[in-house]
Amino acid sequence: MSTEAGQDLNGLQKKWLDAVAGTSSVDALEQVRVDALGKKGEISGLMKVLSTLAPDERKAFGARVNVLRDEVANAIDGKKATLADAALNAKLARETLDLTLPARPDYEGRIHPITQTIDEIIAIFGEMGFSVAEGPDIEDDFHNFTALNIPADHPARQMQDTFYLPAKPDGSQMVLRTHTSPVQIRTMLKGELPIRVICPGRTYRVDSDMTHSPMFHQVEGLVIDTHTNMGHLKGCLQDFVRAFFGIDNLPVRFRPSYFPFTEPSAEVDIGCDRSGGELKLGGDKDGNAKNWLEILGSGMVHPNVLKNCGIDPAKYQGFAFGMGIERIAMLKYGIPDLRTFYESDLRWLRHYGFVPLDIPTMVGGLTR
Ligand code: PHE
Repeated sequence: MSTEAGQDLNGLQKKWLDAVAGTSSVDALEQVRVDALGKKGEISGLMKVLSTLAPDERKAFGARVNVLRDEVANAIDGKKATLADAALNAKLARETLDLTLPARPDYEGRIHPITQTIDEIIAIFGEMGFSVAEGPDIEDDFHNFTALNIPADHPARQMQDTFYLPAKPDGSQMVLRTHTSPVQIRTMLKGELPIRVICPGRTYRVDSDMTHSPMFHQVEGLVIDTHTNMGHLKGCLQDFVRAFFGIDNLPVRFRPSYFPFTEPSAEVDIGCDRSGGELKLGGDKDGNAKNWLEILGSGMVHPNVLKNCGIDPAKYQGFAFGMGIERIAMLKYGIPDLRTFYESDLRWLRHYGFVPLDIPTMVGGLTR
């Protein structure tokens, strides 16, 4: 190698190693890298010199350039790590967390009692292996009535004062669903058996006074399996009402009733005490009820309903139930007037609402 070329390289090495050492930021270091080792960098450019050298000099010069390139590259890597450490340390020193600050004292917003009650119902039935199903608020006649064993001329249609939508060209009218039972039908029509679902949602009836609202909420339950019987219905609903109201020995009564879509049908009452003009849920110390309060409808799914959904009633049976969410929320939380649920009165919400992170679970406890 000619001494001249060799000295050049020594000079270059010192120049670039000094440049690397002199940088104080990642950006500056990157600029050095580009100027030295980038495509148009000075060290990369040395390869062009190679072709001008005599063949016997090329090998030695090439090897020297490689060493030079590696040394500068290593120096850059080392410097990069040092700069990154320094940046991290500076960041850590800057971002302090004051652990002595108090947790946020209160939340401005509140969870509406309807939402809270639905969450509680889901928590209880979720524990029993139920999943949640939903359906549309606007239903056709088939899902809301016919499939539920309520044909056109059936007197049971008068049981529910229905909101009808304007007629379609073919004369048919959609309805605002009068109950959550159409979600039963939709679930069964999917054909995935066995079934264990609850269906919370909005429902609509032409009715408005202190205890009725044109829009209200129900939750439906449906179990379909090969060996489901009335005993399962009773056990399931008894466990539910006791868990929901948080009263272990709450008296529960099943009273024969009628629904077109269940046979036999039963209404479920819970024990209470109305003496002294006050309503108190629960029985006496022996678990006997003084008075009764109706809270839900239930029954074994009618064979016609199973057939309407393509399920063979000789193989499958099941039970269904439905209840009004406002009603059980009013009972549990002592809310006297149904209409207040929908007034969006902030004072009311602050009083009856729930803290957002107080999510009901069977493990964490329901609200009492
Ligand atoms: N759909 C009934 C109602 O709205 C409630 C119910 C559901 C009854 C399921 C029995 C079985 O009143």
